[in-house]
Amino acid sequence: MLPDGTLSGRVALVTGGGSGLGRAMALELGRLGAKVAVVGRRREPLDATVASLPNEGYAVQADVRDPGAVAAAFDAAEEALGPLTTLVNNAAGNFLVRAEDLSPNGWRAVVGIVLDGTFHCSRELGRRVANRGGDNAQIVNMVATYAWTGGPGTVHSAAAKAGVVNLTRTLAVEWARHGIRVNAIAPGPIDTEETRARLWPTEEMKEQLLRRIPLGRFGGEEEIAHACAYLVSDFAGYVTGDVLTVDGGAWLETGMFR
Ligand code: COA
Repeated sequence: MLPDGTLSGRVALVTGGGSGLGRAMALELGRLGAKVAVVGRRREPLDATVASLPNEGYAVQADVRDPGAVAAAFDAAEEALGPLTTLVNNAAGNFLVRAEDLSPNGWRAVVGIVLDGTFHCSRELGRRVANRGGDNAQIVNMVATYAWTGGPGTVHSAAAKAGVVNLTRTLAVEWARHGIRVNAIAPGPIDTEETRARLWPTEEMKEQLLRRIPLGRFGGEEEIAHACAYLVSDFAGYVTGDVLTVDGGAWLETGMFR
């Protein structure tokens, strides 16, 4: 665990910070000393996250698909907490669907949140940091290992996350001159109330999934939050354009001779 105060001076904005991994990351950044703004579509869970933060926080409602709303959210967060140094692009949408059954609107909804949303928010941070002459700033994008393996049943999300991996590498190079490090995290199966209900609702499905994870267990939200804190911190000061996979080895080929 990183020492207390590691992130003091950071002002972070976490999209989708009202629930799940977004909430866990927001709370960990706050625990380590950052001021944290959370952005999402629903007010109540955002307020609940802010109420749990140990220091100054701010909740602002916006849909990341709407560039105007994103700009307004960044303005409001900076007005409340000061110039933003850190962005966690966590907001996502996903549902299991066969590609041939996916409507154009369903495709647009997921690609809009994941890929467009990540671009809109990154652009806001990039412009602000560049305008103030550069900074020690960081972007962390949440992706998934199916960005490179392919993701049958989630073509919209898999294609969008692949775009986000490329955006991570491209912006890492373009924005190095502004002092902005850009990295991604690819979480594996993380044990939360939502994933339990949606992904492994039966004991049999749970066992089947566990057999595919070399470390033999699901991850905890805090393990993703620790990875995020590391990438945001100066401990990762020489890390940019990377994808940190935190999945117990789940995406690796387990081979025939194990
Ligand atoms: N199966 C098939 N199609 C679906 C669907 C599902 N489970 N859920 C949504 N869609 C389709 C809708 O039918 C609609 O297409 P249509 O107009 O052709 O019928 C399209 O997606 C948009 O749906 P809508 O609910 O209007 O979009 P939204 O922008 O309000 O919601 C989603 C965004 C689609 C991502 C929604 O699933 C959501 O908010 N999910 C909760 C968050 C989440 O997914 N978290 C997991 C993160 S990994």
